[in-house]
Amino acid sequence: MGKIEIAPSILSADAAYLARDIGRVEDAGISYLHIDIMDGHFVPNLSYSPMVVKAIRPLSKLVFDVHLMLAEPLRYAEAFARAGADLITVHAEVVSDAKEAAKILHSYGVKAGISVKPGTPAEVVFDVLGDYDLVLVMSVEPGFGGQKYMDVATEKIAALRRQIIENQLHTLIEVDGGIGIQNAGIPAGAGADILVAGSAVFGADNPSAAIRAMQQAAEKAVR
Ligand code: DX5
Ligand code: ZN
Repeated sequence: MGKIEIAPSILSADAAYLARDIGRVEDAGISYLHIDIMDGHFVPNLSYSPMVVKAIRPLSKLVFDVHLMLAEPLRYAEAFARAGADLITVHAEVVSDAKEAAKILHSYGVKAGISVKPGTPAEVVFDVLGDYDLVLVMSVEPGFGGQKYMDVATEKIAALRRQIIENQLHTLIEVDGGIGIQNAGIPAGAGADILVAGSAVFGADNPSAAIRAMQQAAEKAVR
């Protein structure tokens, strides 16, 4: 297990000052910026279009980790790839052929991620883990920031970690929702590589200090 990455979710940033808030985390020793895309159908909320991703692309060197919470993710994936996404994650609940979906995402020149909601068993993605660069375990019901971490995610992370080790895969495990300094050690200890944090980062007085404290808490759990 290498370094635990913290991926700030800009859903909790100040939408009127996105450039400023991205600037506040850009040099906090992170690699990923988590960008939540919502359509009001797959989740009961709306967020950004490819236009916003295109607008912020020049502002950041970070990996744009675009989380598509869309009822029809493959209808829009290419637009997000063109707008500057580096990694696009689709939900297992809405792709009929996950192997084909990974191929399509890779054909756009981006890394491919697949996500499971809290109620979806990890086993649903076991046989496609090798086709994806990343698996995203939702530790909240998707749709909003600021929710509480759901413990059901922890065993799923451990099960995915076992599957990745047993099959000698390189698929990264990302965990998303309700993660802060107090509990970062739980998903990290279960085998996560990347922890998404929205409100714990952008709700903090000093976002980069919050990121560093979360990284330390997470890495303490895996020592
Ligand atoms: C929820 C999003 C998460 C959310 C995380 O649907 O996928 O990325 O922004 O926010 P926090 O860290 O506040 O739970
Ligand atoms: Zn997300």
